[in-house]
Amino acid sequence: MSELKGRNFLTLMDFTPDEIRHFLDLAAKFKSLKKEGKVHDGLKGKNVALIFEKTSTRTRCAFEVAAHDLGMHATYLDNSGSQLGKKESVEDTASVLGRMFDGIEYRGFGQERVEKIAEYSGVPTWNGLTDEYHPTQILADMLTIREHLKDEKGKKLVYMGDARFNMGNSLMVGCSKLGLHFVACAPSKYFPNKELTEKCRKWAEENGGSITHTEDISEALKDADVIYTDVWVSMGEPVEVWEERIRDLSPYKVTMDKMKAAKDTAIFMHCLPAYHDHETEIGKEMGERFGLKDMEVTDEVFSKYRTVLFDEAENRMHTIKAVMAATLGFEG
Ligand code: CP
Ligand code: NVA
Repeated sequence: MSELKGRNFLTLMDFTPDEIRHFLDLAAKFKSLKKEGKVHDGLKGKNVALIFEKTSTRTRCAFEVAAHDLGMHATYLDNSGSQLGKKESVEDTASVLGRMFDGIEYRGFGQERVEKIAEYSGVPTWNGLTDEYHPTQILADMLTIREHLKDEKGKKLVYMGDARFNMGNSLMVGCSKLGLHFVACAPSKYFPNKELTEKCRKWAEENGGSITHTEDISEALKDADVIYTDVWVSMGEPVEVWEERIRDLSPYKVTMDKMKAAKDTAIFMHCLPAYHDHETEIGKEMGERFGLKDMEVTDEVFSKYRTVLFDEAENRMHTIKAVMAATLGFEG
């Protein structure tokens, strides 16, 4: 799709439903090529920079593997390995990188930082997660919904947890653009902000979907196709918020009872990483401190939907490949 060449990928708000579906179709095509062992290195000779001010497993690996499959070289920069923020401003760093690289991925804090990188680098810039948005994750989620439930349009997706942060915001945007029924189910202080909600309501109306915010769990789960959750405390948030989050969000933990209240065909999704047992440092520390075996999802639910969850994780790579390829002008 020629309209995508040279574009930034900062939030799904900037794309039409057709453009978003094009990313998904291209990702599915790259996924088939990869499974068939067919080379698709049409971006040979190009170079991309991957900036991670916050840690990552899926997003970093997805960008690195996808860049390599497309024939590109990737340079990874983290807080300890670059001057960004400490000795050089975002503007100056972006101006330098724009002279050397064909595209830049940024993961970090405020959305304004990735916007600045796009502005000052002058090359396609991809949002690998900010506090406000996580758009590459949404493409992977939609591809996974297509694979498991045939079509994303018209499906009811219930997000349980802190819907004010990157995942709640981005799912609401993605659902409204693609005609899903989005429900944020949480105490009202965790609902996405009014301004973004109003924008999404308009898109939802145009595209045959809807936006609902509710505290009522049984209303939310009725006829749900997808139950989605994320960690209760995100990267960069202070440790002091755990106690309040656990108190507020425990009733919204995804349990087998909640899965049973949804459609028989419903799937559970999570962007990962997840606190579903004590096998992580933070999960163990907080679990022991607050007397919990798990946090946002029980181990039973997590285990039952492992295939969906790891398809979703794998799809990060295919969809990120589609974003880099389309914005750099390679359609496979
Ligand atoms: N879902 C996601 O973005 O995972 P990482 O933090 O491992 O990149
Ligand atoms: N809300 C989470 C998403 C991780 C992929 C965070 O920002 O830490």
